[in-house]
Amino acid sequence: MARKIGKDERVQLLGSIWLFSHCDRKELARISALTTLQTASAGDVLTEQGKPGSECFIVASGTARVDVSGVDAGEIGPGAFFGEMALLDGGPRSATVTALEDMQLLALDRRELDALLDVVPSVGRKMLRVAGQRLREAHDRHSPASG
Ligand code: CMP
Repeated sequence: MARKIGKDERVQLLGSIWLFSHCDRKELARISALTTLQTASAGDVLTEQGKPGSECFIVASGTARVDVSGVDAGEIGPGAFFGEMALLDGGPRSATVTALEDMQLLALDRRELDALLDVVPSVGRKMLRVAGQRLREAHDRHSPASG
């Protein structure tokens, strides 16, 4: 079982995450207060494709696998986030994400994500950038460019 991280360590961890790399300490402390630390064990299904979702997650430690319609869509490791799509558009989960090992996750529900985006709007722009990349990758997988 992974060691539990403390408050200061959580602020430090958040600062090391690309999504929050431009935030100052005060913003990081506010973000930290909005998140809930959760643990997961290897094999735990963190999001299930087609099911509703009420939380998004930032990976503090450990790695998870992403499957879209049974096809491996890669891994998500420390510093990355997932589960934001169902929260942003209210639709079902677009992929199944499964823990490959014990993990520590910072979870945010929709209200907390909204509050986070109010506190640091630039995080929303970064999230959109990642969402755009994921959409493009998914599109390329379905219709690879010829030539
Ligand atoms: P959501 O649809 O809420 O739940 C599943 C999550 O997996 C999704 O949000 C994204 O965060 C993530 N995800 C979906 N598709 C991909 C992909 N192709 N590559 C990486 N992550 C993805």
